Amino acid sequence: MKKIITIDGPAGSGKEKIAKYISKKYNLFHLDSGILYRRVAKYLIDNKISYKNEKKIKIILKSIKKISHRKHITLRSENISNLTSLIAIYPFVRKFVNNQQKLAVSNILKKNKGCVIDGRDIGTKVFKNAKIKLFIDANIEIRAKRRHKQLIEQGEKSIYSHILKDLKLRDKTDINRKESPLRIPVGAIIIDNSK
Ligand code: CDP
Repeated sequence: MKKIITIDGPAGSGKEKIAKYISKKYNLFHLDSGILYRRVAKYLIDNKISYKNEKKIKIILKSIKKISHRKHITLRSENISNLTSLIAIYPFVRKFVNNQQKLAVSNILKKNKGCVIDGRDIGTKVFKNAKIKLFIDANIEIRAKRRHKQLIEQGEKSIYSHILKDLKLRDKTDINRKESPLRIPVGAIIIDNSK
């Protein structure tokens, strides 16, 4: 049986660092599901499609066969983060990403003994039956400070108060959306990563 470890939590909670640590320690592949959503957002920017234009988004998604799960620094800008959470509310976007995710995971599991996947709905929806589920949380100010530091290190302009505002809005959008909202999965180990 291949191992699947799910890690969910809000932005800046440190779930990516924890996912990377676990994947290295136990020799498992790390898949960051947020990258797939971020790539869709980037695609819309590149093709000048508004996040409000559901019709056009549906058409463009139909034309994409495979989306890469490779990370790229440009996908982590604040602009893309905010747009990503706006399009992640659409059930058809989530369906598209989930199909892409299934495809990616089935290929990953052919070559690896397991996979650590982080995101917002991995333990609640995508891999509901995973045996090990983590939920990483942290105080909002600490999360905003981390994200601010990260952006500065990436060479982006960043204003702490704007980041705090953006994170609050992103949390609100992720928690209140109808389709697969951010929730603590049943049976998850909850880790407060504020320190
Ligand atoms: O790294 P960070 O936590 O800031 O963000 P991310 O994991 O790259 O996710 C960016 C956005 O994608 C989130 O704010 C969610 O709106 C969305 N997302 C989602 O809805 N479901 C997932 N499994 C992963 C990301």
